[in-house]
Amino acid sequence: MKGPTVALLGLGTVGSAVARRLLSPPPWLVARLGGVPRLKWVLVRHPEKPRAIRVDRSLLTTDPERVLRDPEVDVVIELIGGVEPARRYVSRALEAGRPVITANKALLAESLAELAALARRRGVELAFEGAVAGGVPIIRPLLRCLAANRVRRLRAVLNGTCNYVLTRVAQGATLEAAVRAAQEAGYAEADPSDDLSGRDAARKLAILAMLVTGEAVDWNRVRRTGLDDPAFRRALEATASGAQSRSRWRLVATADWRGAVPSLTVQPELLPPDDPLLQAAGVENMILIEADPVGTVRFAGPGAGGDATASAVLADLIAVWRGDRLPLPDLNRGALDRVGIAAAP
Ligand code: HSE
Repeated sequence: MKGPTVALLGLGTVGSAVARRLLSPPPWLVARLGGVPRLKWVLVRHPEKPRAIRVDRSLLTTDPERVLRDPEVDVVIELIGGVEPARRYVSRALEAGRPVITANKALLAESLAELAALARRRGVELAFEGAVAGGVPIIRPLLRCLAANRVRRLRAVLNGTCNYVLTRVAQGATLEAAVRAAQEAGYAEADPSDDLSGRDAARKLAILAMLVTGEAVDWNRVRRTGLDDPAFRRALEATASGAQSRSRWRLVATADWRGAVPSLTVQPELLPPDDPLLQAAGVENMILIEADPVGTVRFAGPGAGGDATASAVLADLIAVWRGDRLPLPDLNRGALDRVGIAAAP
């Protein structure tokens, strides 16, 4: 069996980490792919830009047509980020019958229903393990391993940057210095206000809620308070001066389907020392899923960064290449106005 011929869209933090492994694949990756992968194209905006990774100039192109029309490409990996032009490229690839792997939460929060329907119509795979919680396995476990459960509640730390910032601030750093360090480490979004405002976490929460309920969710309707909220800043200062307390702040994303009205929120919470979410330190993410009949399960690990997210993207590549289909629910686009609907009883 041959390995897949891959077109990579984007060569940022995650794109570079993926490209590095496709260009010099470790033996276990080759074995699991059943052959050596071939990175044929890397779509970039600025080919001359100095980069941490050396990619042969002949692979770099600024022309999406060359990439999207190439019949030799087996799999498209979209790591551009942001909604457009990623949505156009992903739609084109799926329309052409090509499987797509993406880690683009902004795109999926806006368009998962539409893209999943397109993939289904064309009979190709849309895989996105890296879009939520970076290197923490959550999409496949939720859709496959917890498939026999009814999820009642989900509490999570879904933004590595905010968690890193809150961890550093608890150790005495200023908020500004902690944000700069998160940017330097490659954790933050291109616009870090996406992280600090809670928008990034809200998008990821909406994606998880869609998978749990099988209903489309409008991520803009997630009730959201970020680390940029003035009242939170005052509360953070007040708790910093009471440093002996073992309670700690986390940006907590919650989806609760237990009441009559489902609720989705992202907000800073001062958690008591025995809250399991406090075990997510630095860039880590954690997802607690309360479900019947399993009880509570925890997923945790590195939630952002090139290598962690590349782990999820390459796992998707192996799954797609082996024909291991993600059992995506048939998201109902008519429900886009609703915040979230409890899973069927
Ligand atoms: N900026 C995101 C985070 C990257 O900090 O969690 C991973 O999605």
